Amino acid sequence: MQRIHLASDHAGFDLKATLAQHLTGLGYEVIDDGAYSKDSCDYPVFAHKLCEAVERENCPGILICGTGIGISIAANKVKGIRCALCGDVFSAKATREHNDANILALGARVTGPGLALEIVKAFLETPFSNDERHIRRIKQIED
Ligand code: RB5
Repeated sequence: MQRIHLASDHAGFDLKATLAQHLTGLGYEVIDDGAYSKDSCDYPVFAHKLCEAVERENCPGILICGTGIGISIAANKVKGIRCALCGDVFSAKATREHNDANILALGARVTGPGLALEIVKAFLETPFSNDERHIRRIKQIED
């Protein structure tokens, strides 16, 4: 069973619940790293918690805040994390193929649940291309 970590702030809480239900239905083992209520909270806390789990367990993650911007900025501060904020299916597919992104960020106030589900599906089902030029560029980011 493929494990996936989900986390959000208050603004992403409802979309996180929708995605969790959907992904569970598809057979994923969903780990909810919070937030656990819609009370106002700080997205870097949840970004950091999820990034540590993704690094430790080598599995994908999804982060959600209002725009997806703050939480993706926070995630990309963590070594080994390549978090891509996507608002369309093409980008979700491309960031897996080209960037080997290990975390998808979504903006719950920007992207509706129907499109978000399509983006998540593309992200999770697209493998890294393993092309030499993409491996080289990712290594340059890491260095
Ligand atoms: C919360 O109001 C909002 O600032 C946050 O969810 C996110 O959009 C930040 O980038």
